[in-house]
Amino acid sequence: MKTQVAIIGGGPAGLLLGHLLRAEGVDCIVLERQSGDHVLSRIRAGVLEQVTVGLMERLGLDARMKAEGLPHGGFNLADGERLIRIDVAGLTGQSVMVYGQTELTRDLMEAAPARALEVIYQVSDVALHEIDGDAPYVTYTCDGQARRVDARIVVGCDGFHGPSRRAIPEQVGRGFERVYPFGWLGILADVPPCNHELIYANHERGFALASMRSATRSRYYIDVPLTERIEDWPDDRIWDELAVRLGPDAAAHITRGPAIEKSIAPLRSFVFEPMRHGSLLLCGDAAHIVPPTGAKGLNLAASDVHYAAQALIALFRHGDGDAVAGYSGKALARVWKSERFSWSLTKLMHRFPEDGPFERRMQVAELDYIASSEAAQRAIAENYVGLPV
Ligand code: APR
Ligand code: PHB
Repeated sequence: MKTQVAIIGGGPAGLLLGHLLRAEGVDCIVLERQSGDHVLSRIRAGVLEQVTVGLMERLGLDARMKAEGLPHGGFNLADGERLIRIDVAGLTGQSVMVYGQTELTRDLMEAAPARALEVIYQVSDVALHEIDGDAPYVTYTCDGQARRVDARIVVGCDGFHGPSRRAIPEQVGRGFERVYPFGWLGILADVPPCNHELIYANHERGFALASMRSATRSRYYIDVPLTERIEDWPDDRIWDELAVRLGPDAAAHITRGPAIEKSIAPLRSFVFEPMRHGSLLLCGDAAHIVPPTGAKGLNLAASDVHYAAQALIALFRHGDGDAVAGYSGKALARVWKSERFSWSLTKLMHRFPEDGPFERRMQVAELDYIASSEAAQRAIAENYVGLPV
């Protein structure tokens, strides 16, 4: 088979890119290792920046998001005693959209057939070849048959564990990583949220986050040592810890209920440079990972896809290869600024094992400064809604 763009990975990045290219008449195919149901089964954050909302609007796939999503004009930081509301809409003129990543992926997935976006699921043995030249190809197995796709460009949207980043020669690429000494224990429950906006809390006992999927479905997190096992955390123990860490006002409004899902996930910051090598571009988690503090993962994938689509449309519609050549530098400039925000908010809102009483006082002082400074709140707000693309 021959196409213009071979996309590896059918998660949010791969599907979003595939739709944007097809909408401009660029031939592409998406190769996905899992089944569609498996892709939809992943529980992920759902705070969408304007760049992500804008891409769905551009594709005309925003109807359900606008009908079911929750526009949020602010969020809260908590220090164990009070809520510090960051008036995002008032400070930036923009808001974020709370809409589960699963639902965004579902909207993209369901629209693919009608828009002639070919997604092949349950492929295996994906391998990239000749990415240094202008005629790369991808081999893979599907239904027991060995197959090959010849393309002009390959885009790796295959997440942190996919093969694309590893296809870039070691002497060319370099990773930058910070692994955090704690994980997030998350619980999903069909109960109303304790607050109409998100609350990120730094309590003496540790971090907590109160989030949501809808007015009737809540998503909460607490940070736990990496040695913790989910089996040791019955629902009531989680609800008790959340009530303490979120503070008395929020605790008074927590509705408890059985966990639909609960799990512990590690946190890391990671960036791989470059995000392009020869005819291979990397988008999303294939190139970078952010800690979930600030909910930047999906939104960074969206800005990568925005730049990649812009470059590939210029190449295939206008014969202009400059944007492809400049893709990595452009994408990385925004990636590093989002990495900085996610890292700084993680440092501010979590207790690190090596921290002593002085470091705790620094966190309390910084939260106190934020509470008293519009300039500090504006800086946080403009990062939270997403820096310009
Ligand atoms: N062959 C084909 N597909 C693969 C392979 C492979 N060898 N390896 C991984 N994949 C698929 C995965 O099954 C997954 O569906 O690539 C997809 C990558 O999707 P994500 O991990 O969701 O990454 P991305 O699309 O970049 O989205 C980034 O969404 O999942 C969240 O935490 C993530 O918030 C971040 C955002
Ligand atoms: C979520 O709703 O899952 C969520 C929200 C904000 C975050 C992380 C996760 O920073």
